Amino acid sequence: MIKLVIGSQWGDEGKGKIVDLMAEKADFVVRFHGGNNAGHTVVVNGKKFPFHLIPSGILQKKPTVIIEAGTVIDPDVLLEEFDIFEKMGINLKKKLVISSRCHLIMPYHKELDQAYENARGKNKLGTTKRGIGPVYADKVSYNGIRIYELLNWPLFVEKFKFQAKIKNKILVAFGVAPIKVETYLPVFKKLAERVRPMVRDTFAIFQKAIKEKKYILFEGAHGVMLDNSFGLYPFVTASNVIEGGVNIGSGVPSKRIDEVWGIVKAYTSRVGGGPLPTELFDEIATGIRDRGYEYGTTTGRPRRVGWIDLPAVKFACQLSSINRIAITKIDILSGMPQIKACVGYKLNGKKIEFSQCGYLELEKLTPIYKTLPGWKEDISKRKSFKKLPKNCQKYIRFVEKYLDVTIKIVSVSPEREASILL
Ligand code: GDP
Ligand code: IMO
Ligand code: MG
Repeated sequence: MIKLVIGSQWGDEGKGKIVDLMAEKADFVVRFHGGNNAGHTVVVNGKKFPFHLIPSGILQKKPTVIIEAGTVIDPDVLLEEFDIFEKMGINLKKKLVISSRCHLIMPYHKELDQAYENARGKNKLGTTKRGIGPVYADKVSYNGIRIYELLNWPLFVEKFKFQAKIKNKILVAFGVAPIKVETYLPVFKKLAERVRPMVRDTFAIFQKAIKEKKYILFEGAHGVMLDNSFGLYPFVTASNVIEGGVNIGSGVPSKRIDEVWGIVKAYTSRVGGGPLPTELFDEIATGIRDRGYEYGTTTGRPRRVGWIDLPAVKFACQLSSINRIAITKIDILSGMPQIKACVGYKLNGKKIEFSQCGYLELEKLTPIYKTLPGWKEDISKRKSFKKLPKNCQKYIRFVEKYLDVTIKIVSVSPEREASILL
């Protein structure tokens, strides 16, 4: 059984919570793209665990967790996560596997990310400044450095020095101080020593797992609207978020995937710049942000919020053949007299499809809303769909009907247990 969990909006849909839940019986849980621009929060018995690189499945006893080829690794962040989980008594040498194909986020990538953002001025994209764009740019232009090179120390140092020389010229042109390779060598040396026992032939692991019909769970990062090809470029991230990203990022053919789970937040949130057609700015926005604690797990930035944008989510479902949905944070809508759902768009008085829109169109269009009645009750402890207020049930069914995909999980609080299975 192979399952994939992906974000169907602009990220932060609650993928971490759902992956943790689904990981209980998994043999493998795999991150296959993105880096520590992702922030996935899992809450177990009131304790919060923020993840950036290590797959969220690590809190469950059974699975081996894998950081696969498409993922990019910041040494400081991975070392920090090693410490956190080792302190918790998790034997990472047994539990964690890393692909030698993963690219490394080098210090100059972070400097370049920041320098480009500064240079863009008022047109900045609002990246997480974690070096994500520059590291993937180096990957596709054959200038990347991987775990593979890191494990061959003289080769790594040679490549690092060569790249730093070039990147420093660009940094100086931006008016930024050049980086000194020597300053960073100790941390890379430490990383090399710690990852060496974890690096294995993941291709062989997956081939064997597929043959033995093991349960593999892929943990997507970000959200489809941030996909590098099909998101709202340039307000996107650098990796492929969509279903096809699994093959590219892990070597497991997408046709092997049995279930594609789209995680849909009951409203919309977004960190960073770019158009957000259903964005709210009034006290409704403040209410949702405060109740939903909509602040970035990675950067702490307040997230922009809005009503659910169903045409965008439907696009994501179709693009990634999403065949199951987990709807999250529906509890945050409790207490609102009315709830709106965007069901279409108009531009210059004419209807327009999401797929026809680039960011220029999305900035100008007017959403068409369906208004649904709200509910007052706190639902965070409800254990079954039938026990949810009627209007809450109606909202969920309305979303399901519009998307034409079965909703299988309704999440009503951050806690692992607070998940109604349908
Ligand atoms: P991810 O990036 O998709 O994993 O999502 P994040 O972890 O960045 O953001 C989702 C936030 O909502 C986290 O703080 C979760 O603990 C929390 N969360 C997840 N599901 C629910 C839910 O159903 N209700 C509430 N209130 N919070 C939730
Ligand atoms: P998770 O996995 C929300 C956004 C950034 C920015 C754009 C590009 O937690 O859902 P980048 O640093 O990737 O170059 O930034 O993408 N972004 C996310 N927003 N959740 C995420 O991940 C994100 N990953 C990237 O805010 O707008
Ligand atoms: Mg997140």
